[in-house]
Amino acid sequence: MEQYAIKGGNPLVGEVEIGGAKNAALAILAASIMTDETVLIENVPDVRDIHVLLQAMESIGAIVSKVDRHTYKINGSQISSLTIEDDYIKKIRASYYLLGALLGKYKEAAVALPGGCNIGSRPIDQHIKGFKGLGANVKIEHGLIVTRADELIGNHIYMDVVTVGGTINVMMASVMAQGQTIIENAAKEPHVVDLANFLNSMGANIKGAGTDVIRIKGVDKLHKTEYAVIPDQIEAGTFMMAAAITKGDITIKNVIPKHLESITAKLIEIGCEIEESDDAVRVVSSKPLQHTQIKTLPYPGFPTDMQPQISVALGLSQGTSIVTESIFENRFKYVDELARMGADIKVEGNTAIITGVSGYTGASVSAPDLRAGAALVIAGLAAEGVTIVDDIKYIERGYEDFNLKLKKLGAQIEKVTTERDYRKFKFQAV
Ligand code: EPZ
Repeated sequence: MEQYAIKGGNPLVGEVEIGGAKNAALAILAASIMTDETVLIENVPDVRDIHVLLQAMESIGAIVSKVDRHTYKINGSQISSLTIEDDYIKKIRASYYLLGALLGKYKEAAVALPGGCNIGSRPIDQHIKGFKGLGANVKIEHGLIVTRADELIGNHIYMDVVTVGGTINVMMASVMAQGQTIIENAAKEPHVVDLANFLNSMGANIKGAGTDVIRIKGVDKLHKTEYAVIPDQIEAGTFMMAAAITKGDITIKNVIPKHLESITAKLIEIGCEIEESDDAVRVVSSKPLQHTQIKTLPYPGFPTDMQPQISVALGLSQGTSIVTESIFENRFKYVDELARMGADIKVEGNTAIITGVSGYTGASVSAPDLRAGAALVIAGLAAEGVTIVDDIKYIERGYEDFNLKLKKLGAQIEKVTTERDYRKFKFQAV
């Protein structure tokens, strides 16, 4: 089993390049099969979630050619099956984006029902509501969501909750429907906008992405395109928090500063200095961190995917902070792990009361999910002594070369697979 071994205490200093946004790339890769022509997609992060989705696409007949580590050519003309098997969905729920893509292109699809995961129950009732709103028949049979339509007819669809996945899936299902579709109460995340821009580059007619009303005029077909995925604002935010917690000075390059506004605002509030340029942000943390209040909200609010990371930083701030998780019902699982490192956090329902402590101490902890795993790594970077983070498979679902990027910034971190590796790291980590 692979683990990260971390010797804390080094301020992280230097520059780090941010990769393509995982959650934009997943939607864009799924949508790329909606044309029979070849699509070139660049800046795709080299992470496990992407590999699994590409395998799911190949399993139904899509032709996937890897041009280089971050570039793929996709051709959906040879798709021979419209059923995505359970083992892909079990590995990543975002395989369900193929539901919207296949329904939108072939008016038929079947995808295994995605279960819940470590952060919550993750229902998909709004996806189904949207498909039905377009005239599709949707049934749950033998654990599969089976949907088909004689015709997809544009409609006015009101999302009962702001849902990224629901907005993305309904957008894909409607791009070749007859007439206009209006999605009200739509998600405004940058990856929703990126997908809309990608589909428009293929000939779709989507307006209003990034606002809560998206208007889609159905077109007859989509054509080839070349497209580069936006930078990952959550990867960027994670490195910004690493600078804050280690009293470091990091320039995070290849970002869109606007996508980071809520994170930047909170870092300034807790005492960091931020310098912004067109495609980079510099975070300098030289003063003791101060407490604050956080409530996770849909974009442009503070992102739920950054909640574990900022909570770890607030665990070392002066005073008491309150963090309210309003998106998912079970996203504080890392708190028990962080307590082993000396954090003083009390969770009551969807609120964490964080009393800052003077320091963390290294311990053996397990990553309960992707973002919590990254948060435990950055806690280890600030801890006195050695931290072992187990179950790093979760982290590698969404962070490319995480340990290598941190090491380049001065962190003492190694990926270890054997007791011998660990002893060697401990001996060398002076
Ligand atoms: C996407 O998940 C992201 N995943 C998540 O990132 C992210 O945390 C989340 O959006 C919120 O920003 C991908 O993009 C692959 P939602 P998604 O539908 O689409 C409820 C990561 O770490 N809901 O916006 O599944 C739902 O229960 C991952 O990269 C319904 O009630 O999230 C939740 O409370 C973790 N019915 C809220 O909406 C539905 O039909 C937001 O979920 C759909 C969602």
